[in-house]
Amino acid sequence: MRVLVTGGAGYIGSHTVVQLLAAGHQVEVVDSFANAKASVVPRIEALTGSLLTVHAFDVCDRDKTEALLAGGAFEAVIHFAGFKAVGESVAEPLSYYDNNLDSTLSLVRAMNRHGVRRLVFSSSATVYGADPELPMREELPTSATNPYGWTKVMQEQILRDVAAADHSWRIGLLRYFNPVGAHPSGTMGEDPQGNPNNLVPFIAQVAVGRRERLAVFGGDYDTPDGTCLRDYIHVEDLAAGHVAALHRLQAMAEPVGVWNLGTGQGTSVLEMVAAFSRAVGRDLPYDIVERRAGDIAVSYADPSRAHAELGWRAVKSVDDMCADAWRWQSANPQGYPDA
Ligand code: UD1
Repeated sequence: MRVLVTGGAGYIGSHTVVQLLAAGHQVEVVDSFANAKASVVPRIEALTGSLLTVHAFDVCDRDKTEALLAGGAFEAVIHFAGFKAVGESVAEPLSYYDNNLDSTLSLVRAMNRHGVRRLVFSSSATVYGADPELPMREELPTSATNPYGWTKVMQEQILRDVAAADHSWRIGLLRYFNPVGAHPSGTMGEDPQGNPNNLVPFIAQVAVGRRERLAVFGGDYDTPDGTCLRDYIHVEDLAAGHVAALHRLQAMAEPVGVWNLGTGQGTSVLEMVAAFSRAVGRDLPYDIVERRAGDIAVSYADPSRAHAELGWRAVKSVDDMCADAWRWQSANPQGYPDA
């Protein structure tokens, strides 16, 4: 298939582009490079032996997006582009609503106009809200606890409405649990700008000496070791889930499919620190501090629908996630180069 990938230079996007190319698809990327470095592109090309066409603009730009869809002869789009930092979304809600909703509206309008009606969308387990029933199943009601989460709930709703109005659409909503890890080559991985918000990038920066100690947010949760449980999923498994969803769209009877992409296993913060320490070969320093506002104690998927309908399941372990994240971080202590 000819596939357009928005946000294809980002963390999950870049890993998915590599797998799409490996599966024989023709891929073009559009990325604003607001939260990605251009130096990922030659690394994708080196891993795949393909030249990648990259359009450097923001899909919020309706004229450019329209022109791209008009000329691209795409058969499907995978839409990753969006802002994703929870804390920033609380501080700057308008820029989150503006950017995340506008990019989806601009893209879907252009797709509709040019008859490209297959879309795989990056959603998040955050749409299960503050107090979900466990394990999280796709049928649960959606809500959110912060503006970033609301933009995901709203984008899902917009896409459902679009598909309800025109049944020729095929849309896959992928609800990611906690993506971590890196390409096993060590040449691609997560490269947060500034202070990392997420656990594994923070641990990796402690391990490589960019940060002194990890702060573990809360040791008094009602969990076996008192720290929060999350469903960490290797970014390679997640990328494979996108390829599986893209293939599924072609055969799908209903216009919309919703799939959790997780392992179904909860891992505590301290278990993650222990696993990363094993990967590095030494104990990593941490302090248990106050809870972080907005965190829920336990989050893990029921991944059975993705297995039944996509033929997909996560296969990589927490030790694989940490070994690959460490290979990436130790080979690229400062992340991707600027040039
Ligand atoms: C967070 C977002 C979620 C988003 C996802 C994107 C919140 C409340 N949720 O998920 O909406 O989709 O990132 O990747 O922000 N932790 C520490 N110390 C740290 C960092 C994290 O102890 O320095 C703990 C957290 O308290 C949590 C666990 O590690 O228990 C995982 O945190 P994180 O990686 O930020 O992911 P989520 O909060 O699950």
